[in-house]
Amino acid sequence: MNSASATPATAVIVVAAGSGQRLGYGMPKAKVPLGGDTILTHALRGVAAAGVAQQICVAIPPGDQELQALCESFVAEIQAAHRLNATSGQAVQLPVVTVVEGGASRAESVRAALAALLPGTEAVLVHDAARALTPEAVFHRVAQSLAAGAKAVIPVIPVVDTVKTVERTTGDGAAIAPELVTGTAARESLRAVQTPQGFELATLRRAHEAAGGFDGGQAAAVTDDAMLVELLGVPVHAVRGASQSLKITTPLDLIIAEGLLEGPLGTRWVEG
Ligand code: C5P
Repeated sequence: MNSASATPATAVIVVAAGSGQRLGYGMPKAKVPLGGDTILTHALRGVAAAGVAQQICVAIPPGDQELQALCESFVAEIQAAHRLNATSGQAVQLPVVTVVEGGASRAESVRAALAALLPGTEAVLVHDAARALTPEAVFHRVAQSLAAGAKAVIPVIPVVDTVKTVERTTGDGAAIAPELVTGTAARESLRAVQTPQGFELATLRRAHEAAGGFDGGQAAAVTDDAMLVELLGVPVHAVRGASQSLKITTPLDLIIAEGLLEGPLGTRWVEG
């Protein structure tokens, strides 16, 4: 990076190559309708509106022409907005949009996108398309932490439920209940982790190179990028996330997301 306080050249990776089976729409989640558009369109607009990226790199399911076309429409949309802003004297930099084919796992999709980042990129934010309504302020908090010197930073929110660990009940116990509690985590120190997760690019590349040697079980346990960086022993910092950054995963999440878009507080309600 240029210096501790300068803004590094930043790319945002949007991973949108998941199957979305839990949503039950029978199509990749990125294509699922939300507020008259698609989940991916909302996610991409949120990234563009945040204005932190010189490049937006989108990972879509291999061979998905519809999502490819959707990304092209998004490019046309931001180019038109850019022309309009330029005529009114408020030109901001137009990000380069790159589309890559994702992999069989989220981590593989991230790796495919990392390989397509422009030379000179210093920092990267990795964002789930499924967190389509993430407020701009969250992108800014993550980007500011990177500019201040963090090598890894994640947005988090406090956990409201008590969280316990369990194991499957075996033997006679199985007739009583399917699972047995093995412990209770201290709730005050628990955080639910969201995206965009921000990294110094070299650090995230190193973390993903190390993960390339994982066996099937280890690879399946990788649910975010920060945990790979933690394994390198690099400190991961946390900034405040937002409840409307919810990951649209189940039909209930989609109802909540629709409600946020249609609600009386406006199309992009942002909590304080
Ligand atoms: O399935 P999960 O909830 O972990 O997905 C989180 C994000 O990762 C989603 O935006 C999804 O599209 C993306 N993903 C991907 N490639 C995969 C699996 C998930 O880009 N193979």
